[in-house]
Amino acid sequence: MAEIRNDNGISTLYVDGQPFQAFAGEVHNSAAYDPERMEIEIWEKMEQSNLNTLIVPVYWETLESEEGKFDFTLVDALIKQADKYKKKLILLWFGLWKNAESAYVPVWMKKNSETYFRVELYGGERLNTISPLCTAAVEKDANAFSRLMEHIRETDENSAVIMVQVENEVGLLGTERDYCAQAEEVFGGSVPEMLLPEQTEKERATWKEAFGDDAEEVFSAWCFASALEQIASAGREKHPLPCLTNVWLKQFPWYPGSYPSGGPVEDMLWVWKAAAPSLFTIGPDIYVPYVSDIMKTYSRPDNPLLIPEVRKDAVTASYALYAFLHFHALCYAPFGVEDLWADQPSDLPAEVIDALKLDPLSFNLSGTKETLGEVYRLLEEIRPLYLKYRGTEHMKCFLKQSDGEQGCYLKFKNYDIEIQYLPRTDGAPAAAGVVFELDENTFLIIGMMCSIRFHTKPGDHRRVDFLTKEAGTFHVGKWVCEQRQNGDEKIVSVLYNMPGCFRIETFKY
Ligand code: DGJ
Repeated sequence: MAEIRNDNGISTLYVDGQPFQAFAGEVHNSAAYDPERMEIEIWEKMEQSNLNTLIVPVYWETLESEEGKFDFTLVDALIKQADKYKKKLILLWFGLWKNAESAYVPVWMKKNSETYFRVELYGGERLNTISPLCTAAVEKDANAFSRLMEHIRETDENSAVIMVQVENEVGLLGTERDYCAQAEEVFGGSVPEMLLPEQTEKERATWKEAFGDDAEEVFSAWCFASALEQIASAGREKHPLPCLTNVWLKQFPWYPGSYPSGGPVEDMLWVWKAAAPSLFTIGPDIYVPYVSDIMKTYSRPDNPLLIPEVRKDAVTASYALYAFLHFHALCYAPFGVEDLWADQPSDLPAEVIDALKLDPLSFNLSGTKETLGEVYRLLEEIRPLYLKYRGTEHMKCFLKQSDGEQGCYLKFKNYDIEIQYLPRTDGAPAAAGVVFELDENTFLIIGMMCSIRFHTKPGDHRRVDFLTKEAGTFHVGKWVCEQRQNGDEKIVSVLYNMPGCFRIETFKY
C-alpha cells in the first residue's frame, strides 16, 4: 500500500514500506479504452525510457455506463498489466470534470440535464460543465469513485495502484463563476466559516464584501474544492490511497475564465487547502517555458511536488532531474508519453494545442526518449545516495533556468565548484545536474550540458588538481568506472547532451 510520510521535513512516497519515486509518463486521454493496444503500444515499450510508473485514465462513462451497475474490466486489465510488467499505476479519475468540461460523465447523466444541471453563464447560456453545486451529480460521482476505490482495495494484491488523481483540471472556462439559480443563491449568502475563520455570527460577510474583485474566483474555487473533497473523501473511506488533483495553470491573459476559474491556481491554493484536505497535493500540469518557477510554486511543506503532466521536448530530461533531486518530487510525467516510442507519433493537432493554450515547442520529441530514459535510469540507480544526502549541505543541484544564465558556483567545505552552462541546441536538454560531496575531497557529479571546474576556498591560494578522475556510470547500484582520465582528458570536465557522471578526488598544492 502506498502512503506519504514526512522524513525530516521531506514528504516522501512509500510503497509497501519502501521509498519510491515515480519516474512516470502520462498516456494520451483515449489510450486506456483498449487494453490490447495499450499492451503493445505502451506497456511493452515503456522500458525503453526506464519508466517505473504509468499515469492512466479511468473513465466514469465506461465504469458505470448503466446507472448503478459497475464494470471494472478496464481497471482490472490495467492492474494486471502493471503487475505483469512490474510497474506502478497512478489512476486518473475522469469523473464529473475533465479540462473544465463534463465530457466523461456516463451517457445517462449527459442526457438528463434537468437533474444534473449545468453551469450557466451570466445571461443563462449553459456550459457543457455540470455545476459543482449540483449535489445529485456530486453524490453520483462520489458513489462511483468510492466503488472504484473499494474495487482497487479488493483486487490490487500487489499495490500496483499507488495514487489516484481525482478529476482533471477542474474549473470554468469562459466565465468567472456559475450563474445558475443555485449558484446565485449560494453566492448571495455569507462566506463559509472555513474561509473566514475570524468572522463572528453578527458580521457574516458576503463573498463580495470579503473578497472584492476576487470574490467570483474564490467562490468557484470553494465550489469545486468542496465537491472534490466530497468525492475524494468518499473514495478514501474505502481505500486510503494518496489522492491529488491537478491544475491548468494560470496563464496569459490572466483573468479567471481565460484559464479555468476555480481551479487550484497559485492564488487559490489557500481555498483548496482549506476546503479539500483529503487531497494531499495539487499537481501542476506544466507546458509553459518557465517550468522551474512553477515547480517552485507548487513545492510547499503542505504541497509536495508531483508533476502529473509536463512538456516532452528534450529539456524535460533536465527538469526531471531537478524536480526529483532539488524539489524532492514524488512523481514526474511527460504527457502523451507513448509518443516517445511510436514509429509515427500521433501528435496533437495544432487546433488542440491552441485550444488548450499549450506551448507548441513542448511537443517536439527529438532527443527526449534517450535523455529522459537515461535520467530516469540514473535516478533509480542513485536512489540510496539521494536518500542519504537529501536535505544536507553535501548535495547541491543546478539547472539552467533561462537563456541568459551562464552558470553557477556551488560552495562545499574544502572546494567551490564552478559550473558553466553550455548553450542549448535543438533536441538537447538544458544544463542540469547534481553534485554529491562524498567526503571533503571526493565528488560525484551527474549532469548534462555543462563544464565543471574546481576552485579552492577564498583566501586559500593553492591550486587544485585531481588525485583521480573517473568518467563512468552506475549499474545495479554501484559506481562503474568507464574511463580513468588524465592528461588531455583532465584539462576540462564536460558533460554533453546525454546525462553523464564523473567521480573526482581532489588535492591542493
Ligand atoms: C491537459 C489535460 O489535463 C490532459 O488531459 C490533456 O488534455 C493535455 N492537456 C493536452 O493534451
